[in-house]
Amino acid sequence: MEEYRGKLPERGQDWDALRTQMESLREGDADWRNARTAVYIFNAGEDVSRVAREAYALYQAENGLGPLAFPSLKRMEDEVVGIGLDLLHGPAGACGNMTAGGSESILMAVKTCRDQAAAKGRNVVGARVVVPASAHLAFDKACHYLGLQIVRVPLAPDYRADPEAISEAIDDETLMIVGSAPCFPYGLIDPIERLSDLALEAGVWLHVDACVGGYFAPFARMNGVDVPPFDFELPGVASISADLHKYGYAAKGASTIFHRTEEQREFQVFESGNWPGGHMRTPTAAGTRPGGAIASAWAVLHALGVEGYREKARIVCETRARMMAAINALPDFRTYGEPKLGLFLFGSETLDPFKVYGRLLARGWFSGIVTEPKAIHQMLSPAHAGVVDDYLADLEAAAEEVRNGGEGEASASPRYA
Ligand SMILES: Cc1ncc(COP(=O)(O)O)c(C=O)c1O
Repeated sequence: MEEYRGKLPERGQDWDALRTQMESLREGDADWRNARTAVYIFNAGEDVSRVAREAYALYQAENGLGPLAFPSLKRMEDEVVGIGLDLLHGPAGACGNMTAGGSESILMAVKTCRDQAAAKGRNVVGARVVVPASAHLAFDKACHYLGLQIVRVPLAPDYRADPEAISEAIDDETLMIVGSAPCFPYGLIDPIERLSDLALEAGVWLHVDACVGGYFAPFARMNGVDVPPFDFELPGVASISADLHKYGYAAKGASTIFHRTEEQREFQVFESGNWPGGHMRTPTAAGTRPGGAIASAWAVLHALGVEGYREKARIVCETRARMMAAINALPDFRTYGEPKLGLFLFGSETLDPFKVYGRLLARGWFSGIVTEPKAIHQMLSPAHAGVVDDYLADLEAAAEEVRNGGEGEASASPRYA
């Protein structure tokens, strides 16, 4: 990828000209507006996007670091957290905070768990966090930052967490186990009920990573989808991460971290007066917290309401089922597992999926990949409902090109950088 080195212009430039320039910079970007992007973007339509954008702009200058200065943001954050807890069966006393994203929410969960264990006198240097192999890499990152050891445990044959294997991996040094609802690579909800029992038996912290499903699964369940229990209704669940900037459809920079008790959450907070700038208390990793992200999440939640989210969930689930059925009907392709929400993957035993990916990329379709098994990953938005037929036609054409040993951009090595 090309690197550009900027230089501050001597004189300020006209905004209209800059705006035009910025719009043209986008020409090489993935075409998400036409629903050709099935990763990074959650496109619920222009009406939702407008609410997210305008609410962000209304509060772009305000800073969530200062609740006394901006009681508006404090109130919106409290209400957003309350809505999340309500959706995720938060018991009395449960609490939470907004963060900048799933990775920060996960970092906060792991840090809180570690610091609570340390306060109880446990040795936490190099202590273990045991996760299914499908858990997000944000757990590895958190462990790396916090001086903990990540232990990745092989999955069951159905690509979900294997509670037996996780149970065997728990030892005296284990602080936390993890389940995803759903995991990113396979889009599947782990058997959280079993993990909850395990956590209670072993006396370890269970974090549920519902970054993808937290603002989706509850509505899918209301629509009749058979979503197994995965949240605070299970007594072993200590904390949950749930992203507003994914299927909450809010502007980027908005996630929630929830704790079962206030007592537990205290270990998340950083508080100090060890400098001349006055006493400071921050609930999450950030100092300055963008008012726009908080406002945008608040506005989109209220603009959609239960009805709106149920309708979006219905569209995404139907689109996923339709795509999976059509792909399974093609001779060269198959899907994996039984996803219930908006993520699925498909691969092939006869064609190299990454070559097919390359041909789809050349046709303007941008998505993720999975390496085990080699597969093409789809994280669907409501907007994809309108492009299923185009995608399937291009998939067949891409497969034909690969079958014929198509040259040129036939292969791709997708990565997240
Ligand atoms: C299951 C899951 N957890 C955590 C994350 C990390 O979220 P973020 O990219 O907002 O930091 C993701 C991102 O896709 C995810 O899918």
